[in-house]
Amino acid sequence: MGLWAQQPAPSPDKPDQGTSKAQPAAPHQPIPFSHKTHAALDLKCETCHGNPDPGDNITIADPATCMTCHESVATDSPAIKKLAEYAQAHKAVPWVRIYSVPDFVYWSHRTHLQADVRCQACHGQVEQMDVTARVTNVTTMAGCVECHQQHNANTGCSACHEGASAELRRMP
Ligand code: HEC
Ligand code: HEC
Ligand code: HEC
Ligand code: HEC
Ligand code: HEC
Repeated sequence: MGLWAQQPAPSPDKPDQGTSKAQPAAPHQPIPFSHKTHAALDLKCETCHGNPDPGDNITIADPATCMTCHESVATDSPAIKKLAEYAQAHKAVPWVRIYSVPDFVYWSHRTHLQADVRCQACHGQVEQMDVTARVTNVTTMAGCVECHQQHNANTGCSACHEGASAELRRMP
């Protein structure tokens, strides 16, 4: 399915001006993580990003998984020392969220992955980023609907929202 590769790559110069006004497009993270460095190792997205049942969300690898490499890689780095502390304490790294939609929106990654929509269609060229940034408008209603129109997917209000327009009028 080459379909999705034809989507223009969103420009990092034009970050999402949509819903997430309060969130910076590239928040400061507790550990400076580079997708570019790790993509150069030929790691698949799925190595660090699972999609557990029921499939709505995508997880980020826990520190213990990172440590399978970092027990021996870059161990002198302050960032890796911090990572090792989280792993030892069995704690998740408190990564700051970059993409999110409000609770009143039905969202499932799995629906999209099963339709062969690539990560990059919604998140841009993550593998080229030293600092992960929000570079698309996928968290806005316009961003969702635009792609649904292009691909003849459902654009009915109730596809993404509960109930009829009366309910929607009461939304924040
Ligand atoms: C070696 C592990 C690793 C690999 C491989 C990896 N990621 Fe990530 N990803 C992370 C970590 C750690 C974070 C949280 C820190 C950050 O945002 O940079 C993250 C964050 C993200 C986010 C932002 C999540 C949010 O907060 O909204 C997206 C989107 C993402 N990754 C997509 C991808 C894609 C697409 C690929 C494959 C091209 C990929 N990642 C490969 C570890 C990885
Ligand atoms: C397949 C092995 C592998 C995995 C898994 C992996 N890394 Fe890495 N990581 C590397 C390599 C190789 C480098 C580059 C080291 C260098 O340049 O000296 C690196 C570099 C880094 C650096 C920069 C270190 C520095 O200061 O130079 C950070 C931070 C980092 N990784 C965090 C993570 C996190 C967080 C995860 C888990 C989400 C993770 N890594 C998973 C192999 C891995
Ligand atoms: C059709 C668009 C779309 C595709 C395809 C997509 N994402 Fe997302 N992604 C989103 C949206 C929208 C959010 C915010 C979801 C929320 O708030 O629950 C998100 C959030 C995330 C997050 C933050 C955690 C979470 O589940 O909310 C990560 C990590 C992530 N995506 C990684 C990926 C990776 C890796 C792929 C490919 C395997 C991918 N995404 C494919 C749209 C997409
Ligand atoms: C890059 C393209 C793309 C983007 C962006 C996108 N979608 Fe989709 N979406 C699809 C496709 C294609 C399908 C059809 C899947 C199928 O029918 O198998 C779909 C299906 C769905 C469905 C299931 C609809 C049904 O009736 O079965 C929901 C719900 C949905 N998307 C919500 C969203 C939301 C919410 C957003 C924005 C946060 C979004 N989508 C962004 C491509 C996209
Ligand atoms: C493909 C998914 C999708 C479809 C179809 C869709 N919406 Fe939305 N809608 C969203 C997302 C995502 C948001 C949250 C983003 C935002 O607030 O900008 C949203 C937000 C809203 C809001 C709150 C706006 C605000 O400013 O807080 C209303 C009201 C709304 N939608 C009404 C509708 C109506 C009416 C329809 C049918 C004509 C519809 N939506 C169809 C995805 C969708």
